[in-house]
Amino acid sequence: MLDVWTEKYRPRAFNEIVSQSIAINNLKKFVKSTNIPHLIFTGPAGTGKTSTALIMAKHFLKEENLDANLLELNASDTVRMEYVREVLKNFVNQSLVKDGTLKFVILDEADNIPGQVQQALRRIIEKASNNIKFILLCNYINRIIDPIVSRCAVFRFVSLPKEKIIERLKYISEKEKLKIPSDTSDEFFNQLFFISGGDLRKAINTLQMAVALELLDNLDTNEILKISGFLDKKTLDRLIMALKSKDYMKSREIIGSIETLDSRNFIRQLVEILPSLNIDPKKIINLWTSIGDVDYRISQGADEGIQISALLAIVIENVQ
Ligand SMILES: Nc1ncnc2c1ncn2[C@@H]1O[C@H](COP(=O)(O)OP(=O)(O)OP(=O)(O)O)[C@@H](O)[C@H]1O
Ligand SMILES: [Mg+2]
Repeated sequence: MLDVWTEKYRPRAFNEIVSQSIAINNLKKFVKSTNIPHLIFTGPAGTGKTSTALIMAKHFLKEENLDANLLELNASDTVRMEYVREVLKNFVNQSLVKDGTLKFVILDEADNIPGQVQQALRRIIEKASNNIKFILLCNYINRIIDPIVSRCAVFRFVSLPKEKIIERLKYISEKEKLKIPSDTSDEFFNQLFFISGGDLRKAINTLQMAVALELLDNLDTNEILKISGFLDKKTLDRLIMALKSKDYMKSREIIGSIETLDSRNFIRQLVEILPSLNIDPKKIINLWTSIGDVDYRISQGADEGIQISALLAIVIENVQ
């Protein structure tokens, strides 16, 4: 059975967390005292929030007390407020230790908790005794109600930079004794970074998938792009040609022929190729606005086919 590398290489100590030095340095100061505030970790996916929350909790808890003193809840558990109340009440009351041992509640995806439930949660946080510490994890802090935010110390996690992602991937490759052909190794890691968009979990998963599919032997970076829902280089080149010659039907045909297209990934690729498209410099700002709008609409569930068709039309309109 294959290990899941994101778990196998999940950081277990502060010094294994890559980047995030501002958050980590401050948290290290916090853990020196027992009087820590409730915490919110906010930032993009796969940047170390859950890992850091677990490290925090484990710093204060003995291994054998972990079950009794650490509660992990996910947003989907909180849809029924009654359930949350019950679970939290049990957790808080269980063997209340007199010596002030801390207990942790890690609330994952806190930004997906409905507003009503957040209000109830706020009261639970307010009333919780001093030894209960909440750690809320979220991607978008503006979806958490102010009264909760103001009761917590907020730590912002950032997308990981290219060199950090590649460094970690190389570390894992070494540990796993992967054979990456040296002539394509740079291209391979660059591509894994591009695919990840700064999400280390995605980068590690893509690396493991490439290994599982035996793509390393005859390293074909195009295959890796394809399985990750991007256009391979040849298709991308054909698309560039079609866009430059303002051939709208052709560009739609190319996009339509890709079964595994992920539209938001495609938008990232489009952004990368913009400089090669001879866009009228006076129109570039409007074009960026449109790209942002389309990306947003897709993120909100708009019909991807229609949005991408519209985007191709807008790009072609702005090609000189
Ligand atoms: N800063 C980091 N340093 C080291 N490893 C990391 C870091 N960020 C992510 N990882 C790797 O990615 C995996 C997922 O990280 P983690 O669960 O901490 O991300 P997250 O920020 O909680 O993401 P999400 O918002 O999707 O829950 C970890 O197991 C680890 O392998
Ligand atoms: Mg997480």
